[in-house]
Amino acid sequence: MPTFRVETPHGCYNAVVERGVAGRVGEYIPRKAGKVFVVSTEDVWRHQGHTIAGGLEKVAHEVLHLPGGEENKRLAPLENLAEEMVQRGADRTSLVVAFGGGIVNDMAGFLAAIFMRGVPVVQVPTTLLAQVDAAVGGKTGVNLRSGKNLIGSFHQPLAVLIDPAVLATLPEREYRAGLYEILKAGVIREAELFRFLTDRAADVLARSHDAVDTIVAESVRMKAEVVSADEREGGLRRILNFGHTFGHALEAETEYRRFLHGEAVAFGMRAAVYLAETSGHLSAEDSVEILGLIRLYGPIPSLAGIPAERLLARLAHDKKTVQGNVHFVLPVRIGEVQVVSGMDEKLVLQAIRSALS
Ligand SMILES: NC(=O)c1ccc[n+]([C@@H]2O[C@H](COP(=O)([O-])OP(=O)(O)OC[C@H]3O[C@@H](n4cnc5c(N)ncnc54)[C@H](O)[C@@H]3O)[C@@H](O)[C@H]2O)c1
Ligand SMILES: [Zn+2]
Repeated sequence: MPTFRVETPHGCYNAVVERGVAGRVGEYIPRKAGKVFVVSTEDVWRHQGHTIAGGLEKVAHEVLHLPGGEENKRLAPLENLAEEMVQRGADRTSLVVAFGGGIVNDMAGFLAAIFMRGVPVVQVPTTLLAQVDAAVGGKTGVNLRSGKNLIGSFHQPLAVLIDPAVLATLPEREYRAGLYEILKAGVIREAELFRFLTDRAADVLARSHDAVDTIVAESVRMKAEVVSADEREGGLRRILNFGHTFGHALEAETEYRRFLHGEAVAFGMRAAVYLAETSGHLSAEDSVEILGLIRLYGPIPSLAGIPAERLLARLAHDKKTVQGNVHFVLPVRIGEVQVVSGMDEKLVLQAIRSALS
């Protein structure tokens, strides 16, 4: 069973990628733990609750639901949930199991980070995006009205249990959005994964078990390595932002309604590739190849009517922008990127225009 070790100053843990591992969650809960609180949403529970419930038969636990949706990723539901936990007997020895997509990952993880000043969390991600990205790395948090993920904390999990079998019920659009984060992994650090996505595209899109298991495991390995090298995004972890600077601008401009996160990242990767090519960082051949693979896993919803200038203006407001200096993660070849700042604004605008067209 592929198991990847994450070692950070604030916690060491395993990310296990295996079919059926959700059903063995009980094995990953320390014997000394008190009551277990499984946090999910009604939607996820309806589709996949049975897969994890079996693994908790011998463990004292309660299942609690959060409202799903980005608009509900706020502090208020967490306060309600914390009250509910107390009423149902939670104490300092309690443990949270986060069972759901990235929203549950971030909210339940944050709840665990602050409940009685911190209880452990086991992440059991159920979307492709959460499996390959959100669940490993310990980032948790909620949105403010003024912006995404503006309140949060690092809270490394006790374990991450990644069960590709739970993806069977994932809607097609969500599945494809997750594939873009895997494509990102290929471009920034994993040339072999990029080739696999190219050569086995039909199997990947058909969710053939061996193809899905391979791309999930490879992405998790990459994320585990990067997070272990740099927990808090001072250095290497910044490469994970490939496609995200432009992507966040698009998400914000369209109020998080029109595009799924992965779709916005696909747009962002296109813009970054154009920028890399016109600024002389990336060869025309590699650019054609990356753009071709992004297209192959598309299409994303229409970009019609989105003004390039407004996206450009939003780049300056990105959370990752330090003192007005926008950093771009640009590919220099397939499998390698560079963090670049001080780009000519005209080139950036041109790249956005190309990506929009
Ligand atoms: N912490 C991090 O490092 C990190 C990284 C990337 C994204 N995120 C966050 O993740 C969030 C997005 O996550 P997401 O894309 O997983 O969205 P999501 O959690 O909203 O899930 C998407 C949809 O899929 C449904 N669903 C989930 N699992 C299912 C399954 N197995 N079968 C059927 N339906 C299922 C959900 O009910 C929901 O409707 C954003 O808030 C983003 O900020 C966090
Ligand atoms: Zn992302």
